[in-house]
This record gives sequence, structure tokens and C-alpha cells, in this order.
Amino acid sequence: MRVVSGIQPTGNLHLGNYLGAIRNWVRMQDTVEEDNRAQAAAGDGADKNQCLFFLADLHAISMPHDPAELRRGTLEMTAALVACGIDPQRSVLFNQAQVPAHAELQWLLGGTARMGWLNRMTQWKDKAGKNREGQSVALFGYPVLQAADVLLYQATHVPVGEDQKQHLELARDIAQKFNNDFAPDNAPVFTLPDPIVPPQAARIMSLRDGQAKMSKSDPSERSRINLVDDADTVMAKVKKAKTDPEPLPSEQAGLGGRPEALNLVTIYAALADSSIDDVLGEYGGQGFGSFKPALGELMVETLRPISQRLTALLEDREALDAILARGAARAREIGTPTLRATYDALGLVRG
Ligand code: TYM
Repeated sequence: MRVVSGIQPTGNLHLGNYLGAIRNWVRMQDTVEEDNRAQAAAGDGADKNQCLFFLADLHAISMPHDPAELRRGTLEMTAALVACGIDPQRSVLFNQAQVPAHAELQWLLGGTARMGWLNRMTQWKDKAGKNREGQSVALFGYPVLQAADVLLYQATHVPVGEDQKQHLELARDIAQKFNNDFAPDNAPVFTLPDPIVPPQAARIMSLRDGQAKMSKSDPSERSRINLVDDADTVMAKVKKAKTDPEPLPSEQAGLGGRPEALNLVTIYAALADSSIDDVLGEYGGQGFGSFKPALGELMVETLRPISQRLTALLEDREALDAILARGAARAREIGTPTLRATYDALGLVRG
């Protein structure tokens, strides 16, 4: 089992990132450790299973950005991941730009990826809108870099939110075509990765609009809960979250056509690790006047220990640099055989 995933170090880590992806990263870290222990006990060699998590800073330059902010954001996001429970001793935690093999492999896969495949990516269509000609080449090629990110490490499992599933399907298509075209005799160069999307919280929506996903790039701060928000801010944002005048139904079917209500109940269920039906079993028939404060409390309880750890971690920037340097060295080591095999399969002479 090889778990690989990334996050762009732009803006603040928000509840959508946490419930959709990061919490799953932390859980998979435990699964990997258990698998390693079981394999070691069976005499099957230790540490075969691994988690690699990274800051996707190369992805962040596909949109207009401020270099100073990106530099600061990368360290802050590193601290946020550690605060959420990513343990740099157990997982390889690194920054993409510190491992040049990501960019190299992207170029090598560029001969295999097809324009038509990239043109169909919904994120490209959403971000480019009507102005495709004015977009950066990096924004168009972004999914190829994302494929390189996971294929470089022979990822088997990629924990992501729903919005990244299509990019992972593309990574599988690229891997499959490359294996077919350049590794015909049953020695595939790449493993086909599986996206792991949480059954609940795969898509957390904006607090202002139940049809738009919660996002770092939404100009409204009130649309999202940031992991660094203090208790008063969280409670105020939840109180002002868009809802409708109806009380909560007692069954999930009653949330049809009520996207904002569905989103708040989904967030509650994800935070409480329960199901939507269980939440409605408790709050069905009640109005938002009583549900919202309970939801806010649950958020505050989840975020408090994370933001306390984050504040402490941000005080020691050198320690964060050291975590990234160590992680990158390890990632370079793990990725080297695949990068070499890719050059070889393509017939590129490197001496
Ligand atoms: P990014 O930085 O936008 O988001 C990081 C992770 O958070 C998930 N996510 C959400 N999940 C549920 N509800 C939401 N509202 C929500 N918003 C974000 C995302 O699905 C993601 O898992 N291209 C990626 C980063 C990346 C990557 C990779 C991921 C680069 N290379 C390789 C996996 C594997 C991105 O921009 O995620």
C-alpha cells in the first residue's frame, strides 16, 4: 500500500480540505502503520507500506500568484498538516519543488497525455471559463503534473475530495497508455492509482451557497470555516450561514432541494463521525436556531486542539524547514527508480 496525496499551499486550510481529504490522510497513516506491523510480525519485511504527503507548490504557479505569499503559505500549510495529525516521523512530508522528479516526470508523461483528455477536465473548464486563450500553459497541463505526482511513487491509494477524482482518473489513463505503449512485455512502469474519496464529506459546500464548493479562492471569508478561525469567528460564520425557513426533516429524503440544509447536516455528520440519518434522528423537527449552535460547538471542539498545535508549530520556522528537507530527501530516494525506468522506457539516453 502506497498512499500519496497533495494540497496546494495557497490560502488557509479550511473545513472542506480537512473533512474531504486531510482527516483521511491521518487515518490512512494509521492503517499503513498497522499493515507494516502485521507484515513485520509475519516476517514479511517492515516498512513496505508508506504514506507520502506533499505541498503542491508547483501547481500553485498555474494561477496568478504572489511569490512571497507562496513561500509563506508553504511553511504555514506544512505546520497546518502537522497540526492536523500528519506525523513527519511516520509519513514522508515534503514540498513538491524540493523534488525535481515531479516536474521531470510531468514532461516525460506529456508525450502520452492527450489534448482531448485535458480539454475535458472540469477544473480546467471552470477555471478558464470563456478565456481559454488567456490561460497559462501550466493551468492546462496541471493534471499531467498531478499524474506525475502519484505515478512517481507507484501510489496505490490517493485520498482526495470528490473534486479531484477526475484528475485521478486521468492519471490512470496516462499510466495505462504509457504502460501499453512503452512497456509491452508485462513489466508495467506505472501502478494504476485508486482515488479514495470519503463516503461523507466528499464535497463540502460554501456556507453562503449550497451549490458552490467550499474553496480557498472564494472571495467571501464567510463562505468557509478556516482551521485557524477562533471560536467567536466560527460561531458567527455558522450563525450567518445561509439556510431556509423550514425545520430539519427527520429523514434524508426531506433534504432534497435544500442544498444549504443538506450541507450543514453533512458537516455535522462528518464531524461527529455519524450518518446523516443519525443526525436527523436527533435534530429532525427542530429549526436552525437550535441546530446551528450545536454545529458551531462541534466545529469549535474539532478545531481547538488543531489551532493550538498550529500556533506552537509556527513559532519554530527552522523546525518546519528541517521537516521539509528530510521529507524531500526521502521522497527523492523513493521516486528515483520510477523516474529512471521512465527515461529508459522512452529510449532517452542519459549515459
Ligand atoms: P486542493 O489544494 O484544492 O485541495 C486539497 C484537498 O482537499 C480536497 N477539497 C475538498 N474536499 C471536500 N470538500 C471541499 N469543499 C474541498 N475542497 C478541497 C481536495 O479534493 C483535495 O483532496 N490538485 C490538488 C492538489 C494535488 C494533488 C496531487 C492531490 C496536486 N497533486 C496529487 C492528490 C494527488 C488540489 O488543488 O487540491
